[in-house]
Amino acid sequence: MKLNWAERWAVNNPLRAVQLRVEIRWMKEKMGLRPGGVILEVGCGRGTGAALILREFQPAVLHAMDLDIHMIKKAKDYLPPEQRTRISLYVADVLKLPYRDEVLDAVFGFGVLHHVPDWQGSLSEISRVLKIGGFFCLEEIYPSLYQNFLTKRILLHPKEKRFFSQDLKGALRESKLSLEEFREIESLGIFGFAVKEG
Ligand SMILES: C[S@@+](CC[C@H](N)C(=O)[O-])C[C@H]1O[C@@H](n2cnc3c(N)ncnc32)[C@H](O)[C@@H]1O
Repeated sequence: MKLNWAERWAVNNPLRAVQLRVEIRWMKEKMGLRPGGVILEVGCGRGTGAALILREFQPAVLHAMDLDIHMIKKAKDYLPPEQRTRISLYVADVLKLPYRDEVLDAVFGFGVLHHVPDWQGSLSEISRVLKIGGFFCLEEIYPSLYQNFLTKRILLHPKEKRFFSQDLKGALRESKLSLEEFREIESLGIFGFAVKEG
């Protein structure tokens, strides 16, 4: 589901860039992902995360995609030319990724799953394209944050089949994604990474 004006404002601002920088540096420290891999960012928005992934992880190939063509256009404007030419940006749905099975070293998704009605389907699709031993790095928030009495009036999200901490962890396990390291406030949200099991 595409963002409305309020959430576009919330993610397209400098504070969000600071938050992503802290999370991506934490992931780099814990994960041990070697440079030279093939990485995908799903739901890349205006490209803040992709720029940081490029700098911190030095992949050979970086793809970044979003459902919303306006976000991809924003990313093309936001990224400086030297980064823009090293990231392949495209429009697609995380439920149908244009890759063969087990070809990616890492998939990143910041604040994306809670926008997808079939979020479990997204997890199995991400797992399908990851190599065994590949990383899925995620950051998600729970309904108490985006569907409380105030935010449900301002923000736009799918209403059915929402997930909390235990739902997300169970679905990761079902998709053969083993949660290795994470930071979480159980009522609010989580960031961390999982490894694709054999
Ligand atoms: C909360 S924003 C996060 C953007 C960016 N990752 C960030 O952290 O700043 C969620 C993004 O996911 C995208 N999105 C929502 N549903 C999607 C889907 N099914 N497939 C791919 N992207 C999707 C939205 O268009 C939006 O850009």
